Amino acid sequence: MREAFARDELPASTTLEQAYAVKVKYLGKKGLVTELSRQLGAMPPEQRREHGQRVNALKAELEALYDAHCRGLAEAAEQAALAQFEDLTAVAVPEVGSLHPITRTRRVLERVFAELGFDVADGPHVELARFNFDDLNIGADHPARDMADTFFVTPPPGSSLRAEDLVLRTHTSPVQVRTMLARKPPIRIVALGTVFRRDDDATHSPMFHQIEGLCVDTGTSFADLRATLYRFVSALFERELQVRFRPSFFPFVEPGAEFDMQCPFCGGRGCSVCKGSGWIELGGAGMVHPAVFEACGIDAERYTGWAFGFGIDRMAMLMHQIPDLRLMFEGDVRFLEQYPC
Ligand code: PHE
Repeated sequence: MREAFARDELPASTTLEQAYAVKVKYLGKKGLVTELSRQLGAMPPEQRREHGQRVNALKAELEALYDAHCRGLAEAAEQAALAQFEDLTAVAVPEVGSLHPITRTRRVLERVFAELGFDVADGPHVELARFNFDDLNIGADHPARDMADTFFVTPPPGSSLRAEDLVLRTHTSPVQVRTMLARKPPIRIVALGTVFRRDDDATHSPMFHQIEGLCVDTGTSFADLRATLYRFVSALFERELQVRFRPSFFPFVEPGAEFDMQCPFCGGRGCSVCKGSGWIELGGAGMVHPAVFEACGIDAERYTGWAFGFGIDRMAMLMHQIPDLRLMFEGDVRFLEQYPC
């Protein structure tokens, strides 16, 4: 009887009502166990005591089993109810968008340069060749003006512009020109944005992002440029990082240089990110060329200036450990969802 109760009937009852029906069947007034106690009266007195004890023990055991089973059912019912609430919550929370890693990086760069005293300036993507090239001392015969490197934009009908006058900006440096034409020194600006070149391979995209920095003041020098970049990379990676310069040429700066930062991942000892060199190439920099000052109406006798520019995409890849540039421009939601707001 105990077996039938504990092994078959009780486990088969999945609701409290069913379990109670089983309890009644065994332990109720007309139940099977109650029936056993009734048999007592018909027994010889010497057997009664033992039989009575056995029936009582059975009764107690079945009651305990019943109680435990009911507790289990109640718990399961509670879990099921909670699970329902979880579903409701999932439906109630709207899907939240995320910020593209380049947008995040732009915002961080803007904040760090704002702390160093730089305003944010801006310029258009479709730019005058004059601002993108001529006023930056990039002559008509410079290779950068070649159709193979630059996207030219057909001027609107009726415009006085010639076919070679309008381009998709190939760098953020035209914002230097626009700023100097519009404002008087002292100038300290950064300009962040999209630029375009006819490159397309594993490490180059025809559309990418740069940040430009420009400072024009009385008596500002290469030492200030160096100190600014040093402070910038150290603030960005929250550790002291050195910056080094390598002589280089850009038509709009003299002297010109390329600059590297100490690798933030190994501190300069050499690792896979810096390919063992301890340094990471960032971009170009230098003192503003007098020809640029002249084109922008700034007195080169009175003022000095320096400028720098580097790619934001590579910086975003470094900061978020993104292995492939193309991931950032494919718009795959599974990639983008990894960067919640
Ligand atoms: N405009 C240059 C480039 O796109 C970078 C640069 C900016 C170099 C400012 C010197 C000064 O490569």
